[in-house]
Amino acid sequence: MSFTLPELPYAYEALQPYMSKETLEYHHDKHHQAYVTNGNNLLKGSGLEDKSLEDIVKESYGKNAGLFNNAAQHYNHLHFWRWMKPNGGGAIPGEIEKALVQSFGSVDKFKEEFTQAGATQFGSGWAWLSLKDGKLSVSKSPNGENPLLQGATPLLGVDVWEHSYYIDYRNRRPDYLKAFIDNLVNWDYVAELYAKAGK
Ligand code: FE2
Repeated sequence: MSFTLPELPYAYEALQPYMSKETLEYHHDKHHQAYVTNGNNLLKGSGLEDKSLEDIVKESYGKNAGLFNNAAQHYNHLHFWRWMKPNGGGAIPGEIEKALVQSFGSVDKFKEEFTQAGATQFGSGWAWLSLKDGKLSVSKSPNGENPLLQGATPLLGVDVWEHSYYIDYRNRRPDYLKAFIDNLVNWDYVAELYAKAGK
């Protein structure tokens, strides 16, 4: 499949004051667009043209670095826009809340582990909540890598590349992560992915 840049599911200014219009304009219109454009160019002649995005990510890993980087970042960003919403954070739907408490001891403990993973990812990358064999776990990854590579389903991810926060938070990555988890996360989308993954 070829890659297409999706529209943001909200207005560019909708996530203020936690994420500015300027950040979303650069991040979505320039950075994500570049992954789409470069990914489409590198997909041609790769032999993976007819595969799903998830399969392109998994099958290009370790074999076609250029295609992998762009396809994985396209996958990560497609979800990232939907992992946020205006007035996010807040109440967590029952099923996923129960699973978080079972796995991490409490929602606060999960939040602490997730933001800690993002804060300690050295350089560019992501922090994740993912599901594998019915188990939730928190992890971090460099550059465009994601839990699909470990056979897990990403349920929530936060972009810790500087392009995601430098305009609004400068070097204060922990403040960006706190704003993300407390005020931006779209828990309904996390719950939707959790239900789809079959738990
Ligand atoms: Fe990004």
